[in-house]
Amino acid sequence: MDLLDSGQKFSPRQDPEWESALQFIPATDSKPLEKKPGCRKKLWTGVGLLLAAAAVSLLTGLLVWHYHLRSDVRVKKVYIGAMGIRDERFLQSHEDPNSLEFKHLASLVRRQLKLIYSKNSVLAKSFIDSSVQTFSEGDGGDDGVVAYYQSEFDVHISRQDSLDQAIESLAAAEGQQGRQGRLMLKPSDALSVNSVISRAIDPRMTRTSLFERQSFNIHVREAGHIQSPGFPDSSYPPNVYLQWRLRADPGRRVRLDFHTLILEDDCQQDFIKIYDSLAPIEDQVLTEQCGYPHDSLSFLSSGNVMLLTLVTSEDKNFPGFRANYSQTVPTQQRMPEECGGMLSGDKGSFSSPFFPSNYPPKITCVWKIQVSVQKFVKVQFNKFFLGNNSNECPNDYVDVNGRRLCGSKPESTVVTSQSNTMTIRFNSDSSYVDQGFTAEYEAFVPTNPCPGRFQCTNNLCINNTLQCDGWDDCGDGSDEDKCTCKESQMKCKNGRCKAKFWKCNNFDDCGDNTDEEDCVACKAGEFSCRNQRCIPEKLKCDGKNDCSDGSDESKCEKSLVLQQCSEFTFRCRDGRCISKQNPECDDEQDCGDGSDEEDCQCGTRPYRSSRIVGGQASREGEWPWQVSLQAGSAGHVCGASVLSKRWLVTAAHCVQDNGPNKYSQADQWEALLGLHAQTQTNEWTVKRKVRRIIAHRDYDRATFNNDIALMELEANVTLNQNIWPICLPSPTHDFPAGQEAWITGWGATKEGGWNAVILQKAEVRIINSTVCKSLMDDEVTDLMLCAGVLRGGVDACQGDSGGPLSVTSSGGRVFLAGVVSWGDGCARRNKPGIYTRATEYRKWIKEHSGV
Ligand code: ARG
Repeated sequence: MDLLDSGQKFSPRQDPEWESALQFIPATDSKPLEKKPGCRKKLWTGVGLLLAAAAVSLLTGLLVWHYHLRSDVRVKKVYIGAMGIRDERFLQSHEDPNSLEFKHLASLVRRQLKLIYSKNSVLAKSFIDSSVQTFSEGDGGDDGVVAYYQSEFDVHISRQDSLDQAIESLAAAEGQQGRQGRLMLKPSDALSVNSVISRAIDPRMTRTSLFERQSFNIHVREAGHIQSPGFPDSSYPPNVYLQWRLRADPGRRVRLDFHTLILEDDCQQDFIKIYDSLAPIEDQVLTEQCGYPHDSLSFLSSGNVMLLTLVTSEDKNFPGFRANYSQTVPTQQRMPEECGGMLSGDKGSFSSPFFPSNYPPKITCVWKIQVSVQKFVKVQFNKFFLGNNSNECPNDYVDVNGRRLCGSKPESTVVTSQSNTMTIRFNSDSSYVDQGFTAEYEAFVPTNPCPGRFQCTNNLCINNTLQCDGWDDCGDGSDEDKCTCKESQMKCKNGRCKAKFWKCNNFDDCGDNTDEEDCVACKAGEFSCRNQRCIPEKLKCDGKNDCSDGSDESKCEKSLVLQQCSEFTFRCRDGRCISKQNPECDDEQDCGDGSDEEDCQCGTRPYRSSRIVGGQASREGEWPWQVSLQAGSAGHVCGASVLSKRWLVTAAHCVQDNGPNKYSQADQWEALLGLHAQTQTNEWTVKRKVRRIIAHRDYDRATFNNDIALMELEANVTLNQNIWPICLPSPTHDFPAGQEAWITGWGATKEGGWNAVILQKAEVRIINSTVCKSLMDDEVTDLMLCAGVLRGGVDACQGDSGGPLSVTSSGGRVFLAGVVSWGDGCARRNKPGIYTRATEYRKWIKEHSGV
């Protein structure tokens, strides 16, 4: 449901009281001192300089006077706060600012605040007024109400700091003094305050340019979603400050899961902030986000309220967000136990509450592990994201036997005990949450901590076969120290052994680059041609073919027209060749006839106008060229890529008859474009029958050579934000080894596993063909391209076939580098994924589809 134009569950009303803005001192108009043209004589220059210096000092003097000495420069300061009130019951009507109950309690709060401020000389002098924004149930679910307010002060510019200090000191004082208020107000008007916290508001929320301020009140008892105005059809409006106040039933938590979040990259301009409160109190920020975050965007409150704010600036507006809200179910309440507990048995696992969502703030969990007597406990944290790295871990942390861990740990971390018990405490403070951790524990015999396995210095146990294999499996390198290299390995200077074929592959495999030393035969100042010849460096990119294979003219910044074309140079339609590398669709015209910039409606994500193993879920609209090819009751079978409104490219092996499955027949297939989750189509998803399949006639099922096919759709599709073509590379497009590429698909998430529901993505790298051929027993031909993560764990898998290997070019567009074709198992170490090399089929695609 579109909450911004329904108004059913929330009341989109503008709080008149909420309007307020800081007054900023107008910037002094300091016009640059203009220099007169044609100063010929030194004398005049001297006089000019003197005058300039005089003017600058005058201006400085004026500024000092203006800011520090003038007595009337005052600024308005706004503080946001929350007041906990005992002895008051929260009523439904307290949510409605127009109700009598609201007005009555609000006026008591205002008076109480006035009284509190009157007791502090700094605050008393500059206080203007307070307003109450809203109320919620008191924390803990028992009696009591929390009032969220805003107080304004008018202070001399030089006294802002003391005002800040006075405000911050209130919290401490009011805790004890609360009841004193009673004495000074009429007993019936007195509130018994048990806490007051006030903080300066985020200055970006008081920008004078913010002309639209609105707040929405939402009950999350029934799940629903909220979204930025205009989402997803248009970008969010400029200069708005919107608040969504989310409330759950007492004792439940608010849960907010972002489905999409795309804002401007600069958080100073546009951002969202989530608070563990109904007011934007800075001590209770759970997160701030902008741009296109890849982290977990699922949040939980500590109590039954949460606030989401969106602030936007004048220009560069993006699609915005959509987030689903709900409340936690009673079994996940704090009673009985949401986290922690006794763990017995010699093996088990546990994780931070709500993992992989972000953990809630202000939570403490204690796990007590007890294993068989005479054994010790080992805990291995496999995922670990707990805020910032720091020594003391003052904020969120895991405490293991008195030792604190925090920050992000890329490698597995192991802790061991010296007895058969271990206590693990997880603690989060009141602000900035993170994803948390997953952990496994195990009992071990102290004399033999890694039975049958290798024990790393950091106590991790790894398979013996991983020792001295050239890969750091321990994470601390201890499995690769003190190794004797095998026949097939070379010795790096740092003592590591690496397979010989890594030598001179333009990648630092040793870690100290020794595998890349003494590689080129060419001397310093010489360029090494692809054909191994050496030419003087200065002949590179001079427009002449000095290498004789043209490689000295293929990777140039400038697009010189070459006298001779070569297999490495881009050919314009007029037949002329240019020296710039990958000039197609880079938004610069390089060919005299402009042919390098023709047919470039591709490779961008319109959403953002400006089967995978080891991958992660993608966001909707992130891969708009990805297609799911489905065959009747079998459902999803293969992937494909959108080339145009009418044509898709996939793998030839996907469209071969297979027993009773007549996959070579067009009528067996249905193509789903703009799909994100297999089970869910939406307004952007288009289903099309297939009119025609053109498999490469030289596809070889034994070698997988020419594993490519085209599919013509029954009817054109209209491109939309989730459906967009990928760019096809020209035959000379270079995808160098080491370049990052992305694989996407709904295929199996592990070898022999099940297909994914949400489109998965994973980052891999292009792998040097010579290295790849030796890894794959020479089964890789020049019509194939290798990509993967050789350490293992990341790869395409069954069901990803036919999908794209996407590479973002330097111009920002995404090109089809390959089509998922085959592999040796999935994600195995030293077994890259093999892709049909797209550059080899540019002409074939044009011939058969016209694209
Ligand atoms: N042939 C497989 C399919 O039909 C995909 C193979 C990709 N394998 C790999 N390890 N990269 O889905």
